This record gives sequence, C-alpha cells and structure tokens, in this order.
Amino acid sequence: MQWNQFLLFMMGQCCFIDCQLYEYLYIKEEKTWAEAQQYCREKHTDLATASNMTDTKRLLNISEGNMGEAWIGLYDQTAGKRKWYWSLPGVEFNESETNWASGEALDTGSENCGFIGKNLTWGDYYCDLKLYFLCYDDQHEGRVTTSLKTGVGGDIGDGFMMATGEDQCSFLFEDKRNASQELYFINEMKTWLEAQSYCRQNHTDLASGLNQVQLKQLNNAFQSVRMNTFFGPFRDTWRWSDGSSFSFRHWNLQFNFKEFNSGQCAMTVLHDEGRWKNANCTVRKTFICYDDKVILIKEKKNWMDALSYCRNNYRDLVTITNTDEQRWVQEKAKKASTPFVWIGLRFNCTLNVWLWVCPEMVSYTNNASDGGTDDCHMSGAMETGGQHKWFQKNGTEEFNFICFC
Ligand SMILES: *[C@@H]1O[C@H](CO)[C@@H](O)[C@H](O)[C@H]1NC(C)=O
Ligand SMILES: *[C@@H]1O[C@H](CO)[C@@H](O)[C@H](O)[C@H]1NC(C)=O
Ligand SMILES: *[C@@H]1O[C@H](CO)[C@@H](O)[C@H](O)[C@H]1NC(C)=O
Ligand SMILES: *[C@@H]1O[C@H](CO)[C@@H](O)[C@H](O)[C@H]1NC(C)=O
Ligand SMILES: *[C@@H]1O[C@H](CO)[C@@H](O)[C@H](O)[C@H]1NC(C)=O
Ligand SMILES: *[C@@H]1O[C@H](CO)[C@@H](O)[C@H](O)[C@H]1NC(C)=O
Ligand SMILES: *[C@@H]1O[C@H](CO)[C@@H](O)[C@H](O)[C@H]1NC(C)=O
Ligand SMILES: *[C@@H]1O[C@H](CO)[C@@H](O)[C@H](O)[C@H]1NC(C)=O
Ligand SMILES: *[C@@H]1O[C@H](CO)[C@@H](O)[C@H](O)[C@H]1NC(C)=O
Ligand SMILES: *[C@@H]1O[C@H](CO)[C@@H](O)[C@H](O)[C@H]1NC(C)=O
Repeated sequence: MQWNQFLLFMMGQCCFIDCQLYEYLYIKEEKTWAEAQQYCREKHTDLATASNMTDTKRLLNISEGNMGEAWIGLYDQTAGKRKWYWSLPGVEFNESETNWASGEALDTGSENCGFIGKNLTWGDYYCDLKLYFLCYDDQHEGRVTTSLKTGVGGDIGDGFMMATGEDQCSFLFEDKRNASQELYFINEMKTWLEAQSYCRQNHTDLASGLNQVQLKQLNNAFQSVRMNTFFGPFRDTWRWSDGSSFSFRHWNLQFNFKEFNSGQCAMTVLHDEGRWKNANCTVRKTFICYDDKVILIKEKKNWMDALSYCRNNYRDLVTITNTDEQRWVQEKAKKASTPFVWIGLRFNCTLNVWLWVCPEMVSYTNNASDGGTDDCHMSGAMETGGQHKWFQKNGTEEFNFICFC
C-alpha cells in the first residue's frame, strides 16, 4: 500500500483541560520519605516527578510560601548500577552512539561527568573538578551550526507529521522551524554542575545528544582550543519513584555524584530556588505528591472498545500535540504489556484524513499526491519500545491503551 498522506495539526490547542499533564500537591505533614511515598501512592499517583525547569518552578509555586525542604520522588538506589544520561531533558542517551576513548567510561565510581577531548573522543572525569565547557542554545535565530535530534519520536516542532513506508507506516515528526541550535564554547573553567547552571541560565543546557557528524563540525573550533571540555553526559544511580526515566536533575552546586549517596533520598530546598539536596530518607519532612492525568490501561482492547472505555471511565483516548506530551505519554507506554498502545488517532474515510478523537483538535490534511488508498479501519498506535513512534494499525487488533482525564 502506497501511503504518503501528510497530516498537519494545529499547535497551541490543548485537549488537556488546563493543559497540565499532571498536578502537584504540597502536603504539609512531616513524614519519612518511605511514608511520604506510601501516602502519595494511596491518595494520589506518587511522589512528585520533575521533568524540566518548568516543573521545578511549579514545585516552588505550590509550596504555599513554605521556605523549608520537601521530599520529591527521587531516590538513590542502594548499590545501584550507574546509568548515563544527557543533561538536556528529553534527549535519550543511546549507548551505541557514543564515542568513548578506550579505557574511558569504566564504572570506577568517581568519574561521572562527560568531557570531549582534543581529538573529539569522549572521556569521563570528576564532576567537581573544573574544565571549560560547551553550552547548547535552541533560542537563537540564524545560522544552523548543528541540528540536534531529540530521541523521542523525532522533533515535533511545528507538528508536521509524515507517514512513510509500506503496510506499517511510521509517523515521523519533522521540525519545520528553521531550528537554529548553536553550540557555545565557554572560555571559563567550572565544575560540571556550575557549567550546567551557567548553560541553563544563559543558554539552554549543556550540549547534549551530539553525534559524530555534529562533533566533526566542531573540529575546527576544537583544534584552536585544544582543551578538555565538559558537555552533556553524566551518570548516576538516582531513580524516580514512579519508575519514569526522566534525566532531568536540579541539584544544588555542592552536590556530589559519588557512591556514598547510596540509599539516600532527594528533597527540593525551597529557599534555594528549589534546588535539590540529598538526605537520609529516614528524616521527616513535608513532601510533594502528583496526580497523573495520563493513565495506561493494561487491558487488551480493540481501538473502538479502548475509546469507549476511556470515555466511560476517564475523559478520552490520549491526544499528543507536542514534544512534552509525547515524552510524558511514552513514559506510560514503556510499562505496557503489548508491543503497541492505542492513542486517540484514527483515519476518517469520509474526509480522507487522520483525526484526533479529541473534539477540540483541528487537523488538516495535505492530501496524497497519488490519491493513495487508506483503509477505513486504521487507527494510530504508539510503539511501546524503541523510539516510541506512531504506527497505523488495524483497529481490530488488541492493545493496551492510554486515556487521559
Ligand atoms: C502559581 O500558582 C498560582 C495560583 O495557584 C497561579 O495563578 C500561577 O499561575 C502560578 N504560577 C506559575 C509560574 O506557575
Ligand atoms: C584521543 O585522546 C585520548 C586521550 O587523550 C586517547 O586515549 C585516545 O587514544 C585518542 N584517540 C585517538 C583516536 O587518537
Ligand atoms: C533558514 O536558514 C537559511 C540558512 O541559514 C536561510 O537562508 C533561510 O532564510 C532561513 N529560513 C527561514 C524561514 O528563516
Ligand atoms: C550567565 O552569564 C553571565 C555573563 O557571562 C555570568 O556573569 C553569569 O554568572 C552566568 N550565569 C550563571 C548561572 O553562571
Ligand atoms: C539514616 O539514619 C539512620 C538513623 O539516624 C541510620 O541508622 C542510617 O544508617 C542512615 N542511613 C543512611 C543511608 O545514611
Ligand atoms: C516542561 O514540561 C511541561 C509539562 O510536560 C510543559 O508544559 C513545559 O512546556 C515544559 N517546559 C519546558 C521548558 O520544556
Ligand atoms: C468522519 O468525519 C465526518 C465529518 O466530520 C463525521 O461525520 C464522521 O462521523 C467521521 N467518521 C468517523 C468514522 O469518524
Ligand atoms: C488535493 O488537494 C488539491 C488542492 O489542495 C486538490 O486540487 C486535489 O484535487 C486534491 N487531490 C485529491 C486526490 O484529493
Ligand atoms: C541507538 O542508536 C542506534 C545506532 O544509531 C540505532 O540503530 C538505535 O535505533 C538507537 N536506539 C534508540 C532507542 O534510539
Ligand atoms: C483488519 O482486521 C480484520 C479482522 O482481522 C480484517 O477483516 C480486515 O481485513 C483487516 N484490515 C486490514 C486493512 O488489514
């Protein structure tokens, strides 16, 4: 089946009632971390997960003027296995796209932050020692020095969705904006956390998700610099209570990445702009829970039954209109027991267009140049693994599905 239909969808429309995928709740009672976790799981979804800077601002905002410390859902696994992440939220670290120099990135416990060496190979280094560093900026207009590919279903950007391939059509997002993402070499020496703070305040983040092609473009700059330079990779054993894999961290500048954090828990320090601090989990503190509005239903249903289920029990099948929503929804999809999960996307034969079930969504089609035939029973599903792309699937197939409320 030839299928090259384009679907454009409006941005800025929101199917989530108040445009929040989750809501934070500040609980004034003082509990140990484990008690707080139990409380949140019973009355809400879980202890708070924070996935970007906006979330840290929301955490500060709901604390009702309390300037103390409050537990969040981050804890350090006891004797856990260290895992690499990128500093920039939303970019997944892919072990097969790394360029470690031989003998680097061995898990010796003390070198947990990444640098680029003079010959563009990567190394790991002490996070609390100082190096030059490389920031990444996605705000500035102009010259495209590098195009960073975010790991999650491609860049959604303006929401240009394209289907390719044969029977199974993978939806790719393409960023139509003239994405100008620039790298800035900062000619000052800082610890990795100071560097991260500098990049987040003055640019976007430490350079993250770089592939070898992009690094080669840096080659000239590096030849003149000839210095080891911190960039985005870090590794830790900290995990979120709800099992999500968000790499976002907002540590205070004195935080250390070393192994004696083992078994500790994280709190947001409200009088330190919400920066996080590690502490013994048995200490009693106020805490922050969250209510999730996106729910994975681990039952196998065809698309129509899934839709009815969501509409009867929640609000609707989930609609995804931007990268943040994609990231949040794919965290749920990872826990599914089927290879795909239904989302609220279906093909309408009358209009010859893919539509979101959500009534507020307006979708446009850029019709197939060959008038390709689309099947009337096709619906949209997100793959549970891999890059969580969307596929068209026969609506009679039975998958887990994702509702929102
Ligand atoms: C902070 O909370 C208030 C009321 O709850 C809300 O009106 C305001 O928009 C929030 N500000 C931010 C930055 O989230
Ligand atoms: C690059 O530099 C590192 C450390 O300076 C060294 O270990 C590695 O062998 C070098 N790699 C190449 C390809 O020259
Ligand atoms: C995109 O960038 C190119 C080259 O950097 C430039 O020539 C072009 O005008 C830009 N397009 C828009 C829409 O800004
Ligand atoms: C941002 O840049 C300015 C000017 O270079 C610097 O003074 C400031 O400390 C930077 N911010 C952070 C958080 O490092
Ligand atoms: C936390 O504190 C308790 C009691 O003060 C102590 O027994 C325990 O070893 C501490 N745990 C850690 C991980 O430091
Ligand atoms: C942070 O995440 C929230 C919810 O996922 C989203 O609304 C917001 O735009 C994100 N902010 C940034 C700066 O990515
Ligand atoms: C297709 O769209 C038309 C017009 O909006 C609507 O009347 C019809 O019910 C839709 N069909 C399906 C299967 O959604
Ligand atoms: C596609 O759209 C154009 C106008 O945008 C129209 O002229 C053409 O007939 C359409 N083709 C099909 C196959 O619907
Ligand atoms: C990781 O990178 C490899 C090689 O580029 C690619 O084949 C694979 O799909 C990537 N994995 C994920 C989860 O993106
Ligand atoms: C979808 O599945 C049904 C039942 O298995 C089958 O009758 C129908 O032909 C399938 N449609 C397509 C396009 O494969």
